Amino acid sequence: MAYLRKDWQMTDTTTSQTDAIRAQARDHLWHPLLQHQTLEERDLMVIERGQGCIITDSDGREYLDAYAGLWNVNVGYGREEIARAVYEQMQKLPFYPLSQINKPAAKLAAKLAEILPGDLQHIFYSNSGSEANETAFKIARQYARQKYPDENRYKIIARYQGYHGFTYGAMSATGQVGRRTKFEPLVPGFLHVDPPYCYRCPVNLTHPSCGIACVEQFETVIRREGPETVAAVVVEPVIGGGGVIPPPEEYMPRLRQICDQYGVLMIVDEVITGFGRTGKIFACEHWGVKPDMITMAKGATSGYLPLGACAVTPEIFDTFLGDPGQGRELAQVSTYGGHPVCCAAGLANLDIVLRERLWENAAQVGPYLQEKLRQIDSPLIGDVRGKGLMIAVELVGEDGAMLDGERTGRFGALIREEGVLVGKMAYAVAGSESVFCLSPPLILTQAEADRIAAAFQAALAKV
Ligand SMILES: Cc1ncc(COP(=O)(O)O)c(C=O)c1O
Repeated sequence: MAYLRKDWQMTDTTTSQTDAIRAQARDHLWHPLLQHQTLEERDLMVIERGQGCIITDSDGREYLDAYAGLWNVNVGYGREEIARAVYEQMQKLPFYPLSQINKPAAKLAAKLAEILPGDLQHIFYSNSGSEANETAFKIARQYARQKYPDENRYKIIARYQGYHGFTYGAMSATGQVGRRTKFEPLVPGFLHVDPPYCYRCPVNLTHPSCGIACVEQFETVIRREGPETVAAVVVEPVIGGGGVIPPPEEYMPRLRQICDQYGVLMIVDEVITGFGRTGKIFACEHWGVKPDMITMAKGATSGYLPLGACAVTPEIFDTFLGDPGQGRELAQVSTYGGHPVCCAAGLANLDIVLRERLWENAAQVGPYLQEKLRQIDSPLIGDVRGKGLMIAVELVGEDGAMLDGERTGRFGALIREEGVLVGKMAYAVAGSESVFCLSPPLILTQAEADRIAAAFQAALAKV
């Protein structure tokens, strides 16, 4: 409770005000993913404040936010220095487009180039992870046209269960079929291979004797399609919403080799994993892999303001150089990409991450939390896996399959009653989905990790 304020128990909102806000939301606010009809039987929380890892609702109830909002509030809630940086930048210059330079955008780009792995020197800003990925795909296709004018490289290979965003290109790369079907037809040219989901191996093999057959699928598909038609692969270093799936150690280096062999760009989507979540500043560092592009968002500002970015190597950037009139430049503009206030938030956020070395805390408290979760004596726990403070608990039924929807739903409600908020896999695979995801702020203490594990234990005992 280190972050508890004196006025914590006092909310700004009375019960009747909360009811009025709920009525406004019910009548006018279309929530993402939610089946609104369920609101006839249940209320959503009205979230009012946050401090550290704790959020409080308008009834004054506190929760440990073990999901950090949506995998993103890495530095925790209530960081005044970010608020101050934002306020000061708003007073100085609330907006000017990147047709010219604003100071925070330039400073942040230089800082990112310094801390990114490999040789990622050039930063294209956007407002979200989806847009960062859209940008990466467009860069990959234009790069291929300019680099290999005699070839027709446009295909992008991603993975089933991977998630890259909600916009058309990013959704087409996404391999969670339940998120795509109703919006088809999708953008042409996106292909998918199996994920490295060792707990339920999609090709029914066992690591390490499998020879990481799943990563070899990239090569198989590149060869079948013809390397001269493939522009890029895109992967999350650790699949996030698709069930927190860290790859075997050899996976990412092997993928890099395959990309090099066929002249295919390696795009690594670090929207969740970036800025310390997995125990390194960027997850690629775990394997010493140097991508051609990294996309980022979420932890870039810890959610205090929207900001996304796509970082590329000089090799790619230089392909976009040429005389004006040749049309080699990247013809894409987003009004708010590189917004000075969002970049000011990004700089203040990055200062905190680097000063407090938050990835080191993720590397310590993450494995501690995993161990605590593994120690829980419950037949419903099938698997605990993760990297740093990105962890999944997969619940199973008596037959070893994912736990049925009814008990999964009950567990979700019970753990919230225990005062801990967690995420859950959804729309990623067919049938019941009983993978619960933990992605707490990177400031999580061991005592808070104990509280999360205790909440799991208590909720599991009642399911
Ligand atoms: C790995 C990954 N990539 C991209 C996105 C899309 O980011 P956004 O929701 O900011 O568009 C997400 C969002 O959860 C994500 O988890």
